[in-house]
Amino acid sequence: MKESSTILAMASDHGGFEMKEFLKKKLIEAGYKIKDFGTHSEESVDYPDIIHPLAKAINNGEYKIGIIMCGSGNGAQIVANKYPNVRAGLCWNEEQTMLIRLHNNANILSLPGRFIPFDQAWKMVEIFLSTDFEGGRHVQRVDKISKIL
Ligand code: RB5
Repeated sequence: MKESSTILAMASDHGGFEMKEFLKKKLIEAGYKIKDFGTHSEESVDYPDIIHPLAKAINNGEYKIGIIMCGSGNGAQIVANKYPNVRAGLCWNEEQTMLIRLHNNANILSLPGRFIPFDQAWKMVEIFLSTDFEGGRHVQRVDKISKIL
């Protein structure tokens, strides 16, 4: 999860654009490579148009880890979780971020671009990338997410 050679997939609508650019810069400085699915300006877009392509690429294994944003983080997370191999968690703080890795083995972090400070979002990204799945009792729970439909 934490190797900086990993290519991270990022996407946001206009509501998360500024945060995406901030986090992308920090990640590149930290040595990560980024596949940026857009959006590429503050011009208004529909978040499903931007998030579906990233979620598809995570779903088919092209990328292992995604970081997505919209204004609230909700629309982005709802779109991403349409895909069976995606586990996207919407987080507002560091502890929640740790828990979506430890307990839910989340492969996408969704952030509320308009509601939390950017430096806090960066701390959350660092936690997301450096926390491993705890396994144990959580394995069967995570398995049941897609098995019981
Ligand atoms: C865009 O104004 C806003 O609706 C979007 O970024 C997001 O919060 C949707 O869930």
